[in-house]
Parts: sequence; C-alpha cells; structure tokens
Amino acid sequence: MKKNTHSVLVVDDEKEFLTLVVELLSEEGYQVVSCLNGTEATEQLAKRPPFSAIVADYKMPIMKGTEFLEIAKKSSPHTPRIMVTAYQNAEMMEESINRAEVYRFLTKPIDIDVFLEVVKSAVEKYELHVAEEEKCKQKDVFIKKIKDALEQSPLEENVHGFDDASLKSPSKDDSSFSPVEMIDMISALSSALDIINPALNDHHKRTCYIASCLAAELALPTKEVSTIFLASILHDIGAIVLADRFKLLDFEDKSTHAHAELGALLLESFPPFAIFAPLVKFHHVPWNNGEGETFRGQSVPKTSHLIHLADRIAVLVNRRSPVSNQVSSIVEKISSVSGEKFIPEYVNAFLNIAKQEAF
Ligand SMILES: [Fe+2]
Ligand SMILES: [Fe+2]
Repeated sequence: MKKNTHSVLVVDDEKEFLTLVVELLSEEGYQVVSCLNGTEATEQLAKRPPFSAIVADYKMPIMKGTEFLEIAKKSSPHTPRIMVTAYQNAEMMEESINRAEVYRFLTKPIDIDVFLEVVKSAVEKYELHVAEEEKCKQKDVFIKKIKDALEQSPLEENVHGFDDASLKSPSKDDSSFSPVEMIDMISALSSALDIINPALNDHHKRTCYIASCLAAELALPTKEVSTIFLASILHDIGAIVLADRFKLLDFEDKSTHAHAELGALLLESFPPFAIFAPLVKFHHVPWNNGEGETFRGQSVPKTSHLIHLADRIAVLVNRRSPVSNQVSSIVEKISSVSGEKFIPEYVNAFLNIAKQEAF
C-alpha cells in the first residue's frame, strides 16, 4: 500500500459505494474518513484539521450533498469538493456550482481510474494552496525581520541626518516619525514608481525581494542587508521617462548608467537616503571578472553588484507563466554570464536559492 499524509472525507448513504471508495483511496495511501450522512460529516469537519479533498454524494437523506458541501466550503474553503451523483441535471449542477463551488462532478457508476485521477488532482490543488500559504507566511516573517532590523540600522542613524540638514528634526522621542513609518513611506514611493504601467509589474518590490533573499543566503551582516533592501526598493528611481523604464526590462542592459547616476543624485539630495545612493549609482556595472570593482575611476560597492544581479533576475521572470517552469532557463541564463556580468559568489547564492521549491 502507498503512503501519503493526505486525508480525504467521503460522504454517501450508499454503504456499498462507501466501502468501495474507502478501499480504493486507502489502497492509494490516503487517510480516509467515511460518513453515511451530512450531519456526521459536518461533525468530522469540526473536530479535525482541514481535509485535502472531500467527496460527497448528491442524493442523501437528512442533508443533500450540496447542503453539506456548502457547509464544508465555509469550514475549509480551500479543500476541493467533489460531487458524485447518479442523477445529473441542470438544477443540481447549478446549485452545486453556485452554492458549494464544487471542483468536479463524477457520475455513478464511477470509472475507478477517473475517480482516482480526480481525487489526486484535487489533493494536488490543495497542496498548492498550502505551499502558497506557507510561502506568504515566510515572506511576512522575512519582511518583519527586515523591518525590525531597520529600527536598529542605517536608517535609524540617518534619521538623525535630518538634524544635520536643518530639516524638521525628528528624534527618537518624536513619536510622529519613526524608521518603521519611514519604511512604509519608502514602500509607497517604490509602488508609485511602478504604478505608471502594469508591464513594470512591481519591478522594484520584486528586485528588492530577490536582493534581500540573496543577502540572507550570503549571511551578510544586518546593517548591509537593510542598506541593500532600501537601495533595491528604489534602485530605478532615476529612470523618470516610461520609455527608459521599458528599456530596463531588457536583460541585455546597455547604455543604462544614466538613470543610475541620476537616481544616486536624487537620493544623495535627501540625507536619510544618501547612505544607499552609491549602491544605486553603480547598479548596472558589470563585474567583468573583477574589473567591476571600480567604474570610471570610482570604487563600486560590492553590494551594488548584488542589486545588479537581483534586478536582472527580476526582469527575466515572465509573470504570465508559472515561475516554476522558468527556473531552469533563468538559472542557465544567469550562470552563462557569471563572472562576466555578475560576481560568481552571488550567482552561486542564487543557484542555491533557486533549488528551493519557493523563495
Ligand atoms: Fe536599473
Ligand atoms: Fe531595475
């Protein structure tokens, strides 16, 4: 017998059918809970963790399949619901779709292979949802860590830069201004930079997320991570014209230094942002096997190269198709220019991250 961790709830008043289905699913390794009516099944929903799939007959005493599946939808909205029935008619279909949002219909007598295939695909759908939820949780924890780090890092030091610039002088005691509010403001500014066209697709936030993941993978010091976070979330601020922004979506970044220089000038003019201006200034400088340590006689911060890599990964991702299908081509493209465009150590960090199911 196969073994898996998924549990499936099956509800049918027809004992023979129930026995057959329990046997089939158990044989596939599912943990099966069977009930003879909707009331029993509702109790099972209340006392167990969410099922990975639910199979219910339509015509049952006490409670119709649609009524039970409607309760199941409220109790565990992401568990796919499968309706099995000997009598398909328009009214039943309409009721099942509108009230219970049924995932699939199967007609009795069931074709065993089709039945198992449908349950398998329902469970996979549920698995995808769980993985997505987990990814969101991890992302939230990660963003919170960065926000926490920012409270004790360059931004906080820079908040005092306001004093030097004789601007409004917020201090630690000034409850109307805090580094966390500052990050909210930067985040809003970053969104505004991309909102001008849907094709930009949150480019700043995507680059920032990838850069932060790379920094975490490289175990860079917290102070450096927060500077990378802030520089990457605004890195194309100097590309003011929409046509310039579109050009930057092309992986082969040619003649792109003007927007980086302008972005750095803009950031330098505002003391709290001046600390990450150098990272922005050089964020398209190729590594050129080490020659990228300097550019036009100026020293290039190493982490500027990290933002360059994150930015180029971000433009390679096509949001119109599943990212999982693109991983190998992106890895291949980035690896092919390791050393030439990007620092190999950073490319290796990306290769490690790309091995994970989600990042
Ligand atoms: Fe750029
Ligand atoms: Fe960019």
